[in-house]
Amino acid sequence: MIVIHDLDGWRSLRDEWRSAGDTIGFVPTMGALHDGHLSLVHRSVAENDRTIVSILVNPTQFDEPGDLEAYPRDLERDESLLAQAGADAVLVPEPEEIYADGYRYRVTETDRSRSLEGAHRPGHFDGVLTVVLKLLHLVRPDRAYFGEKDWQQLALVRGMADALFLDTEIIGCPIVREADGLAMSSRNVRLDAGARVRAAEFASVLQAGGPAEQVRSRLEDLGIDVDYVERLDGRLLAAVRIGGVRLIDNVPAHGLN
Ligand code: PAJ
Repeated sequence: MIVIHDLDGWRSLRDEWRSAGDTIGFVPTMGALHDGHLSLVHRSVAENDRTIVSILVNPTQFDEPGDLEAYPRDLERDESLLAQAGADAVLVPEPEEIYADGYRYRVTETDRSRSLEGAHRPGHFDGVLTVVLKLLHLVRPDRAYFGEKDWQQLALVRGMADALFLDTEIIGCPIVREADGLAMSSRNVRLDAGARVRAAEFASVLQAGGPAEQVRSRLEDLGIDVDYVERLDGRLLAAVRIGGVRLIDNVPAHGLN
């Protein structure tokens, strides 16, 4: 597996792959990889001749500086997991090279990005959509893989790909969970033992479903701090704060909401 830090290095590898006629699958990530991320990599490896994964803790999508600083980073471990998963290359760009424009140019969606995550994290989706567009232009993949874990993100990336006539096919992949039902997340390592137990309760209350208001009060009864519980696209989506860690999850909605 080739590790690339500079964009010119990536461009020459891409030209090599393209002239060999290889199809390219792309998995954008922020690192601190777990089996959720790796499920996207496996899918890409199965569907494309070449797979490239990017690792960039994207500063523009963090609305809280403390969250950006606390975001877990372990590049060596990530590289070995990606090599085992069969990725051909990993792109680890410098934020300064990605944002050489000083973030003067950005993508803003004005409707669906304003609710749920967008309402609680101002500017978050501008940062996500901008970095995803930049990466898609750099990588020019045939297919790009995103997790349903970040449901609203997936919907907005699909919408952007349509609106801006991108050639890349956007592929959504199911949520990978721990044995007790908690959705895998890079942030889970920041949960202490007590918070980890409540995080699993969060997942099981959400899985049990029911009207959004009822789910909210069940969570609050458990002492969980709820940002939102809402229905969208036939899914029940929720964000909570447990032990100082913000967690999101979603499940197919059933029952009256
Ligand atoms: P990150 O949180 O690292 O997630 C990278 C990809 O892995 C996303 O598409 C996310 O939905 C998916 N993913 C995370 N946990 C998952 C799980 N438990 N099951 C299935 N898929 C999962 O999402 C981002 O990074 C960033 O916003 C990014 C798109 C890279 C832009 O910076």
